[in-house]
Amino acid sequence: MFRRSLLPLVRPRPADEPGLVYDEGVEENGAILAGRTRLPATGETYPVKNGYLDLLKGRLGGDNVANLTNFLPGAGRGYEPLWRVRSLNLLTGETFSNERELEIIAEAVGLRRGGLYLDLGCSAGLYTRKLARALGDSGDVIGVDISPSMLKEASRRTRNEGVIASLVRADAASLPFADACMNGAVCGGTLNELGDPARVLRETHRVLEPGSRLAIMGILQARTANGRRLQRLLSTGGIRSFNPDELTGLLDAAGFDPDPLTTHGAVFFAAATRL
Ligand SMILES: C[S@@+](CC[C@H](N)C(=O)[O-])C[C@H]1O[C@@H](n2cnc3c(N)ncnc32)[C@H](O)[C@@H]1O
Repeated sequence: MFRRSLLPLVRPRPADEPGLVYDEGVEENGAILAGRTRLPATGETYPVKNGYLDLLKGRLGGDNVANLTNFLPGAGRGYEPLWRVRSLNLLTGETFSNERELEIIAEAVGLRRGGLYLDLGCSAGLYTRKLARALGDSGDVIGVDISPSMLKEASRRTRNEGVIASLVRADAASLPFADACMNGAVCGGTLNELGDPARVLRETHRVLEPGSRLAIMGILQARTANGRRLQRLLSTGGIRSFNPDELTGLLDAAGFDPDPLTTHGAVFFAAATRL
């Protein structure tokens, strides 16, 4: 689904102006469930189908093996029940529920202020759904992902939970939104999978309004020899891990003022203010 009132903020290319308009389709409570949108300047159309707005259409988009595994049939369905519900227990070495993680993220991004929030690499929509539910009438969430399988599952879960959130298939390296239109951004694990995290952070900076917050959960470089060996292997598939200085440097270079990093085992929570 995609909230109709947010279409004017959507720019398939950042220079596209004005943004998308609604052509036709099926709507419920202000959200487009299926249908067609159009870019007035070119007449190009973009479908809302399988529960998300597809700006990439035929383009595959994945740029490494890790990304492409997210395209496999069933990847979306299995992601939360098989991995996400226990991922932080395994990676932190402590009992670390999704609820605890989501509270840290919501607090760090300043959700209390309301407004429009972006979920970078939303997968099956864990953060998107939580933020949308917590915001209620005080704001909106747009989840961006490159994988059709993940977005389809995000849509299924969002609808099952009776939440309204907007889902869009796009490349986070070229975010399809107007400058400074977002009031906060979250990123759960995605930074580790991106081909060019520096570029995605610069794009995130562009779409955030000055003073707004970015909250990231991700994986640190292992401290043990075995852990480092495993991470070297994973890096061949495109999964990178960060050391704290590298992460702070990336945020700083993209125009953010980073808070001190919080770590739990191999997991970091980073938060920063958009300068
Ligand atoms: C580790 S998962 C994110 C998990 C999710 N944020 C959560 O907390 O459950 C990474 C996601 O990023 C998406 N992704 C990878 N590269 C991307 C890109 N360039 N643009 C948009 N999404 C991307 C993948 O398809 C995948 O769903």
